[in-house]
Amino acid sequence: MSEPVGRYSAVETIGRGVRAAPALRTGFGVTLAFALMGASGRVVIPILVQQAIDRGFPAKGVQVHVVAWLALVAFCIITLATWAQRTAVYRLGRRSEEALFGLRVRLFEHIHRLSIADHSEERKGALVARVTSDVETLAQFFQWGGLAIMLDGTLMLLVAAVMLAYDWVLAVVAFVVAAPLFFVLQRVQRHLVRAYDEARAQNAEVMTQISEVVSGAETLRSYGVGGRYARRVKRASHDRSNAFIRAGTIGAFLFPSGEVFGVLTVSAVVVTGLLRGPGSGLTAGAMVGFVFLTYRFLEPIAEFTEVLDQAQTAVAGMRRVLGVLEIPIGPPEPEVPMKLPQGGLAVTLDRVDFSYRTRGDGDEPLVLNNVTAHIPAGQQVAVVGETGSGKTTLGRLVARMADPAAGTVLVGGVPLTRVSNNDLRARLTVVPQEPFLFEGSIAANLLFAKPKLSIADLERSIDDLDLRDWLDTLPDGIDTEVGQRGAQLSAGERQLVALIRASLVDPDVLVLDEATSSVDALTEVRLSHALERLASGRTTIAIAHRLSTAARADRVLVLDHGSLVEDGSHAELVQAGGVYSRMFEAWVASTSAG
Ligand SMILES: Nc1ncnc2c1ncn2[C@@H]1O[C@H](COP(=O)(O)OP(=O)(O)OP(=O)(O)O)[C@@H](O)[C@H]1O
Ligand SMILES: [Mg+2]
Repeated sequence: MSEPVGRYSAVETIGRGVRAAPALRTGFGVTLAFALMGASGRVVIPILVQQAIDRGFPAKGVQVHVVAWLALVAFCIITLATWAQRTAVYRLGRRSEEALFGLRVRLFEHIHRLSIADHSEERKGALVARVTSDVETLAQFFQWGGLAIMLDGTLMLLVAAVMLAYDWVLAVVAFVVAAPLFFVLQRVQRHLVRAYDEARAQNAEVMTQISEVVSGAETLRSYGVGGRYARRVKRASHDRSNAFIRAGTIGAFLFPSGEVFGVLTVSAVVVTGLLRGPGSGLTAGAMVGFVFLTYRFLEPIAEFTEVLDQAQTAVAGMRRVLGVLEIPIGPPEPEVPMKLPQGGLAVTLDRVDFSYRTRGDGDEPLVLNNVTAHIPAGQQVAVVGETGSGKTTLGRLVARMADPAAGTVLVGGVPLTRVSNNDLRARLTVVPQEPFLFEGSIAANLLFAKPKLSIADLERSIDDLDLRDWLDTLPDGIDTEVGQRGAQLSAGERQLVALIRASLVDPDVLVLDEATSSVDALTEVRLSHALERLASGRTTIAIAHRLSTAARADRVLVLDHGSLVEDGSHAELVQAGGVYSRMFEAWVASTSAG
């Protein structure tokens, strides 16, 4: 199984990431141009200072009009640059939000479509949790880091170019002296991040302990162990302060180290300039301008190194996100779909093998083993077997939630691999073993399948299934709230809602997985009655846990450890004295005893 791992280099990851989130690329050139314009505003000041000194204060006296002009030019350029920078920030922020939105949607859709054959629900849940935190990392990076990299990066490049253009010797001196700063800062920042992570963890620990001591105060007091717990909280608080002090100490190192390198670099520049003397063609203005430029060059380094670290985390996050997007999805849509025939639909299983590959060791047992059965259109079939014999799995294959490992499933004579998903969903409905209800009213849970229906339509289907008396027992009838996951209803009632929901689709094939959990007698009568009504005239595969359902079916299929071991009518199978007759005897004994 493809576990998303770091298969791509950083550059490749960024390239693929941009392809996965194309909004990032939209208008990027224009944004970059705005960022450059914004950065140029900051380079212009040192140049104008140089001009003001060299041309505004020549030996023959102060040239007020030159300085005034330069000031006006500076004002215009700064205004323009500020506007450009603001535009760049806005554009980048907007694009990254769009990109993240698209990425989130794609990720959740993708995870949703992963085959149940390869990914259990828990694993999908874990993937969602992980991807959520990865996208959060990316979001944080985009909100600040991406912007900083772009703005700081363009600024540093531009300043470096201007420095080289002014005087390449001084520029090289500045770069060489400043270079160690880059590495020192990177190291310090890494320690700092780790120290703050540690401090935050300690903080959470203190909070947990305090809340435990407070909410468990009564228990602690009754056992007289309050003192011990108080000492524990004290120790955790002490660790917490130490962690924060440590982080603070590292942080305190950060600021002066930038200053030290700044002073060193500028000193080196000034000394080199003076040593070379006026003979080298370096004017006083150029010298001052250069010092300004050097500061400008150093300014963003601290932020830049910090952001580079963040970028690494973001790339790792993106790598995992891509890994998830590249997991192959479940049953693919056919390229050239075949329409299901009109009218009733037969269901055929032809030498079907299946195994769940969720363990990932390639050695999973066959959950269905060479199952062959033909169910003519309109037949009512019950599937029975012990728990774990593969009944639910068989239903899943008929509904094409997964494809068999070998063999073919056909509906209406068409292999399911050739049927489009929409066509199949309109003609075949599954009532799962544990139907999922969303928080909201019963009506909302019914309309979920067919949003265009009216309440009157719903009422009519409820009457058709003879469930009016049940609905009347509920506090608000069809508007009764079902609670989270339908928790306000009993398991049997949830299945009733699912039956009504299925009837709204009016399918030609109905797959019903009976609830395993015990259902009270009245609800059971309602369920079997509603099922009978719903099933009539449709091909029905009822996975029966209550053998009364099997007894009423036209035909019974018996699964045993994934193999179809018996196939016949209830009466025939009871007569035959095999697996089914023993199951039936046991069931009759248990129901008459209970
Ligand atoms: N999503 C899954 N991932 C991995 N293994 C699964 C999954 N679903 C079922 N299985 C395994 O496949 C086998 C058949 O399960 P299935 O749910 O089809 O049995 P069942 O006959 O419906 O059982 P029950 O009567 O308890 O509903 C079992 O061994 C089960 O552990
Ligand atoms: Mg089952």
